[in-house]
Amino acid sequence: MTDSLTGLIRELPKTELHLHIEGTFDPELMFEIAQRNDVSLPYESVDEIRAAYEFENLQSFLDLYYAGATVLQTQRDFHDLTWSYLQKMKTENVRHVEIFFDPQTHTDRGVPFSEVVEGIYGALNDAHGRLGVSSGLILCFLRHLSEEAAFDTLEQALPYKDWITAVGLDSAEAGHPPSKFENVFKACRDEGFLAVAHAGEEGPAEYIRQALDLLKVRRIDHGVRCTEDPQLVRRLKQEQIPLTVCPLSNVKLRIFDQLTDHNLKKLLDTGLCVMINSDDPAYFGGYLQQNYIETAEALSLNKNDIVQLARNSFIASFLTSEDKQQHLADIDRIAARH
Ligand code: HPA
Ligand code: ZN
Repeated sequence: MTDSLTGLIRELPKTELHLHIEGTFDPELMFEIAQRNDVSLPYESVDEIRAAYEFENLQSFLDLYYAGATVLQTQRDFHDLTWSYLQKMKTENVRHVEIFFDPQTHTDRGVPFSEVVEGIYGALNDAHGRLGVSSGLILCFLRHLSEEAAFDTLEQALPYKDWITAVGLDSAEAGHPPSKFENVFKACRDEGFLAVAHAGEEGPAEYIRQALDLLKVRRIDHGVRCTEDPQLVRRLKQEQIPLTVCPLSNVKLRIFDQLTDHNLKKLLDTGLCVMINSDDPAYFGGYLQQNYIETAEALSLNKNDIVQLARNSFIASFLTSEDKQQHLADIDRIAARH
């Protein structure tokens, strides 16, 4: 790839819309917090942790991801994790992030909801003031757990409603369709939360339809299996429903064998509102900019493709239309210089 395209990727203002904060737990920080909390890890070194990150599928990743998250215990831990991610994003010209957190991963181990949300939100607030990075927070329900457990989590979230933009759905997809969470999503929307959901990563295109029709989501997280249903693809295009695509994640979790096989470029050429995200960057081999660079290289993306992906990231965000217009104007100015 040319230096000019790499330079364009670095310079363009970007957003990240599909990012699990627990998935930014770099081995160095995991070790540091484990020591601080006197938690023993089943690894001798940072290198040993990294070496363990070879995944067969979504479940084999989730097993390690939930194990890593047990190190997080106090508000300070959640603050440090989030702050560390935001500082990295600042260096990549990321202007806005909408991040997922999984409260049940923590409350089920006895960590109070307040410790989790106050730590994360405090860092987001600091980042807005000190780094100029704006944000939204998305509470994800774990879909391998019951709808009743999700209702319980919603109850705990209500005192923090003003800090939480949307609800989402993550964890093991196959066998846990969106329909399982229809009632709790209705309750969330009635409380004023926007909705998104993971669908069409390991699950079938039918789960994307359910997320749209039953959960009334504004975006689909992943969604790459939509191509198995041409009528659904036409609908996603017509309604411009964003798909938050995560290329390096999809290769690590074997959704695609290699990055060159990824369907992102086809989806973009079809006119879908797709953009690039990192999902769980500490586990999948790269933060946002790395995802852009490796994908651009593997799929021979041109300048227009890259600019469109960055534009889509803002268009698909939950920013106000005034904020979107400002960021889009910045993108166009920078693109014109390249
Ligand atoms: N898919 C589903 N659940 C998740 C993921 C993912 O990629 N990352 C963290 N939780
Ligand atoms: Zn995800």
